[in-house]
Amino acid sequence: MRIAVIGAGYVGLVSASCFAELGHEVVAIESDEQKLKQLRSGIVPIHENLLPELLARHVGTRLTFASDIATGTKHAQAVFITVGTPPAHNGDADLSFVEMAAREIAAALRSPTVVVEKSTVPVRTSDAVRRTMLLSGADPALFSVASNPEFLREGTAVSDFLYPDRIVVGTDDDYARSVLAEVYAPLTTGAYYRREDAIPGSPADNARILFTSVKSAELIKHASNAFLAMKISFINTVANVSEAVGADIAEVCQGIGSDSRIGSRFLNPGIGYGGSCFPKDLLAFRSIATHVGCDVELLTATINVNQRQRNSFIEKVRRAVWNIRGKRFAVLGLAFKGGTDDTRDSPAIAIVRQLRLEGALITAYDPAAMERAKAELQNLAIDYANDPYEACRGADALIILTEWQSFSELDLKRVATLLRWPILIDGRNLFDVDDAKDAGLDYHSIGRKPEESSRKRLADRSDSTSEMLLGTKAETEVKVCQP
Ligand code: UDX
Repeated sequence: MRIAVIGAGYVGLVSASCFAELGHEVVAIESDEQKLKQLRSGIVPIHENLLPELLARHVGTRLTFASDIATGTKHAQAVFITVGTPPAHNGDADLSFVEMAAREIAAALRSPTVVVEKSTVPVRTSDAVRRTMLLSGADPALFSVASNPEFLREGTAVSDFLYPDRIVVGTDDDYARSVLAEVYAPLTTGAYYRREDAIPGSPADNARILFTSVKSAELIKHASNAFLAMKISFINTVANVSEAVGADIAEVCQGIGSDSRIGSRFLNPGIGYGGSCFPKDLLAFRSIATHVGCDVELLTATINVNQRQRNSFIEKVRRAVWNIRGKRFAVLGLAFKGGTDDTRDSPAIAIVRQLRLEGALITAYDPAAMERAKAELQNLAIDYANDPYEACRGADALIILTEWQSFSELDLKRVATLLRWPILIDGRNLFDVDDAKDAGLDYHSIGRKPEESSRKRLADRSDSTSEMLLGTKAETEVKVCQP
């Protein structure tokens, strides 16, 4: 197939590379000249596992680049729109880039083309795309509009594309259906999985393709993200109750997640969801639901719980160190989740900002997101470390904000000796409570009782700060003496 992909952002670049990997001839269209130059010279502008390998395999052969839609879509049988749909000031998705793409595709249309929405768009956007194309002079016999939402997670986007749980294709005509069936045939027939050079993965079976109406496909995308976000807000709510009553959220999650109707994935409590998708998609979904006169209470609750989770983490920090002003924190993690350099709507960045606002001093480290974080936090005085241990040296407490695998492998004993006070406030529950306790850390996590075993060590220090951290000296001694 000959495919054009408009927009070489996260979704566009991954999709274009994966289409090339499946054997198609792909043109990725990007208007940002700087990015285009990088891509043409083999530089990968985003941190995404396996993407460099795919680009190295296909750039210049099956994957080429163009700077304008007219050139890039000239021979395409399918044109995927993967431009940004950022939130407008009122929460609606800003669809002006989609509209612009639709107009330009219409102006360049010469042969039968399936125009496919892959950007996350509200339900009924396909109607607007079709109308815009007709108003721009496109011959209705030459095009149809389909929806093929992506379910790619940053960090595992290539594997998610090549080994999907399902492929959703929304079409209202047979031609578009047959074109998109052919695009994904290497996955749905299993031909790709039999290739010796296939990117390794473990397909349960051949990929499943689900054909729906265009509107259903559009709704599936928003509903999927809303459900996952709701699952996170739900478990964060349960975690807060668990912590208040002295239960262990890890055990609770295991108990809940073992029910196959619920499932254990996306049940990790933390500091709330972030990223370029969930926050924006929840607002956009709520907005479209409101416009069509439907109840949005559940979506509002999901959004509010998520915001409060960030605030309650700050309170947790306050409880752990007493006054925030003047304390130095080692902060590990700035990306919105592990495995990516993306800091868009990162709860970690929001928390760092709030801590600074309250007068904290910060030494931060992230394995991939440091450059982006520096740009976002440029107006704030923040120190950056070269590794996690350097960040910990002399800090009053360690705060973990992103679920990087490498953080969960930290030598906690070493951390405890580097910190001025052995306090770890873990927003991602990366450690076993007993391990943290054995390392001598005062361990505060989410949905589990704060581990106070290291109080003896704190109490042993005789300066006034230990008294401030632990309460009065007399109280401390009573606690330490308890079995
Ligand atoms: C999400 C969807 O998963 C994907 O299908 C869609 O196409 C794009 O949006 P992504 O934004 O890459 O993907 O991140 P995801 O892995 O879903 O995590 C989103 C946020 O939720 C992160 O901040 C993450 O830390 C948080 N999260 C995730 C939790 O707090 N707990 C969990 O159990 C899972």
